[in-house]
Amino acid sequence: MKKETQLIEQQLSAWCAETFATCFPDADLSDINLRVNASRNEQFGDYQCDAAMKLAKALKSNPRAIGQQFVDTAVLPAIVEKIEIAGPGFVNITLKNDGLASQLTNMIADDKLGLPNIGKNQTVIIDYSSPNVAKPMHIGHIRSTVIGNSIDRLYRALGYNVIADNHLGDWGTQFGLIILGYREFADHDALKRAPVEELERIYVESYNRSKDDATWRDRAKAELVKLQSGDAENRKLWESFIALTLGEFDKIYKRLDVTFDLYRGESFYNDDLAGVIERLEEEKLSEESDGALICNLENDGLNVAIVRKSDGGFNYTTTDIATVASRTAEFQPSEIIYVTDDRQQLHFKQFFHICKKLGIETKLTHIYFGLMRLPEATFSTREGNVIRLDALLDEAEARALEVVKTSSPDMDEAQQREVARAVGIGAIKYTDLSQNPTSLVTFTWKKALAMDGNSAPYLQYAYARIASVRDKYAAKFPDISPDEFPIVLTEEQERRLALKLTRFPAAVESAARLHRPSVMADYLYDLSQAYSSFYQNVPFLKADQGPRESRIRLCALTASVLKNGLALLGIETPERI
Ligand code: ARG
Repeated sequence: MKKETQLIEQQLSAWCAETFATCFPDADLSDINLRVNASRNEQFGDYQCDAAMKLAKALKSNPRAIGQQFVDTAVLPAIVEKIEIAGPGFVNITLKNDGLASQLTNMIADDKLGLPNIGKNQTVIIDYSSPNVAKPMHIGHIRSTVIGNSIDRLYRALGYNVIADNHLGDWGTQFGLIILGYREFADHDALKRAPVEELERIYVESYNRSKDDATWRDRAKAELVKLQSGDAENRKLWESFIALTLGEFDKIYKRLDVTFDLYRGESFYNDDLAGVIERLEEEKLSEESDGALICNLENDGLNVAIVRKSDGGFNYTTTDIATVASRTAEFQPSEIIYVTDDRQQLHFKQFFHICKKLGIETKLTHIYFGLMRLPEATFSTREGNVIRLDALLDEAEARALEVVKTSSPDMDEAQQREVARAVGIGAIKYTDLSQNPTSLVTFTWKKALAMDGNSAPYLQYAYARIASVRDKYAAKFPDISPDEFPIVLTEEQERRLALKLTRFPAAVESAARLHRPSVMADYLYDLSQAYSSFYQNVPFLKADQGPRESRIRLCALTASVLKNGLALLGIETPERI
C-alpha cells in the first residue's frame, strides 16, 4: 500500500515535537504549537522552528538555552543536512541536497505531485456564486464565482469531498411583482434576446408602479400568495423565470469553466422555515418586536436579526439557518464555506451565531471580498457596479487576441483564437485571485494582460516556454530518456528551484486552509521567477550528459507544477502562446 503523503513541514514538526519531548520529559508540551515553517529568508536555512520562544514561558527558561539543548539532543532525520541555532532561539533547518532530490523524484512519480490526501472522508460544502433570479449578476457575484471556484478546486485537490452549491436567490416577495408585471407587459422578443435584462425591467417597472398604486400592490400580493400556496400556473411561470435566468448564467459558467454539484436555491428550504421559527422560540432565542419576530444579538455586539417580518414573511436569516440545518443533517460536512462580498458580513456573523446557539457544531466560514473598482472608461458598465459579464469576457478575449497575434504571428487564426480565449479568461480570473480579497483593487487591462508582470498571461507564457524546452531536448536527443537519470542538485539556482518545487504541496494546503487562492498565485509567480534565474544562469541543453537530463527533469516538473497550480485557479495552460 502507498504510504500516506505528508508535507515536509509536518514531518519536521513531528520530529521537533519528539525531540523537545526528549529534552524536557517532565514538561507538558501538549498545548504548545511546535510547528516548523518554511524560512522566509534563505539565510535562515530552508525551514525554521520557533518553538524555543514558545517553550521559554512554559519552562521558565531562556529560549536560546532551550534551542541549544534541542540542537545538542536532536538526531537528524535522513532529509536534514544540519541545524543551527540563530537569533533569540530559532532553530534553522537545512535540508540535504539529495533529500531534496528524492522529494522531487517522489513528486515526479506521483500524479498528484505530492499533494497530501488531508481531506479524506471529509465533506466540505462551498456556497458560491449564488446570484438572484431575474437580476443580472453584479461584480460581487462574479468575484464570488471566480474565488469560490478556486477554493472548490483547492479543496478537491486535497482529497475533500466538495459539494459546490449555487444557492440561488429564487424566492421572496419580488416574485409577486414579477409575475404580475410579466402578465401585463412582458416583451417576449426581449425575453428571448436578453432574458435576465427583460425580467429585471419587468420587476423594476412593476415595483415602481406598486409604490403609488394600491390596487397594483394588492394584485401583486395576490399573485405571490398564489405562488406560495402552489398554484400551478404561477408555479410554472416562476419556474420559467428560473430557467431563463439560469440559461443565461450557465453560458457564463461554461465560459468560466465553473460547475456546481447542486443548485439549491432559497426556495428549496421554504418548507423548513416555520420549523426554524419554532426551534428559535423553543430555545428562547427570539422575541416579538413591533409585530416582527427578532433575535436580539445586541449583547453579543451583533445587533438585531429579523427572522419573521410583521407581515408573517420570513427572510434571509431564517432561510440561511434552515439551509445550515438541512445541509448538516444531509451531508454531515466538516465545514460550510460561503463566498460573498463584504457587505454581507453582519448577516453571516448573525446567523452563524444563532446556529451555534441552536447547537449546530459545524464549522461555518464566511469568505468575503471587497468590490473591485472598475474605472468607468474600462468597460461598458451599466449603472453602479452592474456590468455585463459576457461583454467583459468578450473584451478580454478580443484584447488577448491582439497579444497572441503579436507573440505568435505565424500561428493559424483558429488556434490564435483558442489561445486568446484561454489567455483572456485567465487574465480576468487571475486579477481576481491574485489579490488579497479584502483589499480594494482597481482593474486595468494593462495589468491584467501584462506579459511581464504578475499576471495570467505571464505565467501561461512561462509555462509554454518551459514546455518548449522539453520539446527542444526531445528533438535534439531523441534516443535518451531523461527519467533514467537521477536528479542531482549542484548549482545554487538549481537548488533554489528544487526547494521551491518541493513547496508546492504546502502552498496548496495553506491556500485551502486560509481560503486564499492568492497564496497559490504568489507561489506560482515565485516559482516562475526561480525558474527564470535557473534557466538564465545554469547551462541546460549545453550541459554534460547527466546534469543535462536532471535539469530537463526539473524543467518538466516545473511545467507540471505550473500547469496544475494554474488549474487550481481555474486557468488553462495552452502549449503555445
Ligand atoms: N443571493 C445572495 C446575493 O445575491 C447571495 C447568497 C449567498 N449565500 C447564502 N447562503 N446566503 O446577495
